[in-house]
Amino acid sequence: MVIGTGTVPAQSIKDVETRVWRLCHSLAARLQFHGWHHVSFVRDKAVHFARRNGADVALVEVAALVHDVNYMVRRNSLPVDGRALRLSILADAGVADLVAHRVDRVVEEAEMRTRHRDISLEAQALSDADTLFKALPVTPVVLAPKYLAENGITLRELAHKIVGEQRGKHDEGYYFYDPEAAATYARWATANLELWQCIVESLEDPEVAELLSAVG
Ligand SMILES: [Fe+2]
Repeated sequence: MVIGTGTVPAQSIKDVETRVWRLCHSLAARLQFHGWHHVSFVRDKAVHFARRNGADVALVEVAALVHDVNYMVRRNSLPVDGRALRLSILADAGVADLVAHRVDRVVEEAEMRTRHRDISLEAQALSDADTLFKALPVTPVVLAPKYLAENGITLRELAHKIVGEQRGKHDEGYYFYDPEAAATYARWATANLELWQCIVESLEDPEVAELLSAVG
């Protein structure tokens, strides 16, 4: 557990963690990709990046814990779809209303689809952690099939989503915000995007499409 300070008392962080952990475990069969393994990885890395960039560490930790609760509400959904559940978890854990709405804004800011170069330091820390999970070399091998199953989308849809949402950020130099993260993980990110671009291209080949439909 990471002890937070500042805007969110340590006891509230622990309470949010317990509530999200319970939800993840009760919904584990549905959350093959966005389960506790994802939340705890993103939380730990987000706290690391927040300590580096001077963000509000406690706020980042709580935002990381609740950033993907939308997948508990509806598959293949957006952060906004989880807003009511997110705010309810935070309220039940004793997080002040103003702080809870700030947490929700950080989650929205860090969303891959819409994030930009000038998001807040808190959103940068969360984004770097979540982006790192996407760029891990093991993710396309081990976790991508779980993403497809969880969200009910095809490999073609996932490949187009990844390339469509991530290529611009990568090419424009804000795939990662933290310079250390960029230096450490840029090779993984580039290889990952290249792999997904190759998957997009391979699916244009009718024989590859036929092969995939044959294996289900
Ligand atoms: Fe995430």
